[in-house]
Amino acid sequence: MTHLLSAKGLRLAFGGLKAADGIDLDVEAGEFLAIIGPNGAGKTTFINMTTGYLKPQGGSIAFEGQPILGLSPRRIVGLGVVRSFQLPQLFAEHTVLQNVALAVASRSGTLPLFAPLLRPGIRDEAADLIERFGLSDLAGVRADALNEGTRKLVDIAMAVALRPRLIMMDEPTSGVAAAEKMGIVETLVRVLRGAGVTAVFVEHDMEVVGRFADRVAVWGQGRIAALGPPQVILNDPEVQRTVIGIVPAGGGHAPA
Ligand SMILES: Nc1ncnc2c1ncn2[C@@H]1O[C@H](COP(=O)(O)OP(=O)(O)OP(=O)(O)O)[C@@H](O)[C@H]1O
Ligand SMILES: [Mg+2]
Repeated sequence: MTHLLSAKGLRLAFGGLKAADGIDLDVEAGEFLAIIGPNGAGKTTFINMTTGYLKPQGGSIAFEGQPILGLSPRRIVGLGVVRSFQLPQLFAEHTVLQNVALAVASRSGTLPLFAPLLRPGIRDEAADLIERFGLSDLAGVRADALNEGTRKLVDIAMAVALRPRLIMMDEPTSGVAAAEKMGIVETLVRVLRGAGVTAVFVEHDMEVVGRFADRVAVWGQGRIAALGPPQVILNDPEVQRTVIGIVPAGGGHAPA
């Protein structure tokens, strides 16, 4: 069976620090796979390697059976793998509609500044995407006036405008107010599933992971320490101790 994404033996060290120390991971079409793990474990490094932003020193990555290691981020986007960043990359002084229209226009390979908005096909497609994300009322608002949750949704709408098969999202809920968080994730999961997009997402909120992930991969010091369904992984005492910060009843050691 061909996996949608298949990473084998990925290695990358920064000096003496092993940010990827033999990562093997297969992502199946249609799934939502959460990556959890402590700060500095190498979660973002994995996304950077699979999207062409960092080149591993060893290993292989295939997308739909085709090797993608060594390709530029742009080529990888062209094959159907897109990403969003820990901090949304929006054009601050342009509106939600302009930002999404630019992403739609960039699919054809050029960024003809703001002329795309004059083209009805692009404008209509951007407006439709914005509606699917529930952002129609904010279409005319500048990106720098949006709250963080909305910025995340616009960033992901721009990624979806590239018509991906796989989206890699780095902490889609970081910086989002607790009260908004579930609504934001519900929206993006609904749109992504509706568009048939497979998702890998780094997430620190275990309630989000428990509700939305089909599988959970636990990162620890450049390696995958555990992989499985959320109901198993989130109840694993070792994961609770190292990632979630819960000390099992009666089993904890006081820090020295
Ligand atoms: N370009 C780089 N140059 C040098 N060191 C780097 C580089 N990118 C990452 N690192 C280091 O590699 C390790 C893994 O970093 P990474 O950003 O992948 O962690 P992370 O799991 O995403 O952490 P966080 O939860 O804080 O986002 C860290 O120690 C980080 O400082
Ligand atoms: Mg990170």
